Amino acid sequence: MKIYMSGKLVNEKDAKVSVFDHGLLYGDGVFEGIRAYNGRVFMLDEHIKRLYDSAKAIALDIPMTPESMAKAVVKTCRANDIRDGYIRLVVTRGVGTLGLNPYLCKKAEVIIIAAAIQLYPKKLYDDGLAVITAGTTRNLQEALNPRIKSLNYLNNIMAKIEAINSGVMECLMLNPQGYVAEASGDNIFVVRGNDLITPPSWCGALEGVTRNVVMSIARDAGINVRESVLGRYDIYTADEVFLTGTAAEVIAVVNADRRKIGNGKPGPVTRRLTRLFHEFARANGTEIK
Ligand SMILES: Cc1ncc(COP(=O)(O)O)c(C=O)c1O
Repeated sequence: MKIYMSGKLVNEKDAKVSVFDHGLLYGDGVFEGIRAYNGRVFMLDEHIKRLYDSAKAIALDIPMTPESMAKAVVKTCRANDIRDGYIRLVVTRGVGTLGLNPYLCKKAEVIIIAAAIQLYPKKLYDDGLAVITAGTTRNLQEALNPRIKSLNYLNNIMAKIEAINSGVMECLMLNPQGYVAEASGDNIFVVRGNDLITPPSWCGALEGVTRNVVMSIARDAGINVRESVLGRYDIYTADEVFLTGTAAEVIAVVNADRRKIGNGKPGPVTRRLTRLFHEFARANGTEIK
């Protein structure tokens, strides 16, 4: 596998970061997870925009333009013959001292990995997921805004540990006020009649690229889409609940904190939006060749 690192493609075994890189020492950096479908990079400009916004929020200068970053992503996909795959774009603060001061890091490190995608088992899509509410709340906006896709994912990992320890794969994360923010690595949607509702990003969610695509596809399909504050009651009593994310795409949640959602099976709106999303993803994107 060829990895893009420090401005060039290198062999996987040569793609190494320093032990003094602040990405490693402090989780100081930002990242993106992007999909390629059918020889095209899906929503590349949107992911790159979010990457640069995240970097700006943590005062990290990415040492290349968004246009050259987009080209580097495509080039890395091409070098690895990716048609359907998963791309991880990482920007670390770079090599510094053992102290916190980020301004002593000379240059941010840009890493691009384009690999095969590890798909979730089909059974999870057919049957839907069970979730619990994690006791770990989503980061406080004023402390580390969840809109920043930073390399520090401990908040999400702590919640994920709770889910796995409880025998489920995902969890609801609440914001510090007790409202539903998102899942540990996905956005959340609720279906109620002909309404599709998702929490606004100020409620503690990452503004997901898949979330935005699903909202626009749903609007085009005549569904009433809105952002609204949601509590756990809204989840328990919804007709349908689903999660969205780059890796998971659209996946039903059929049980939350041992309450069956709807009839306990992926519902018609979730199935319809899953189908529409697949059609859209396979037909849109930046050509790799
Ligand atoms: C915390 C969190 N929320 C939501 C998402 C979904 O975002 P996207 O659809 O852009 O992958 C992700 C994945 O990147 C995530 O890590």
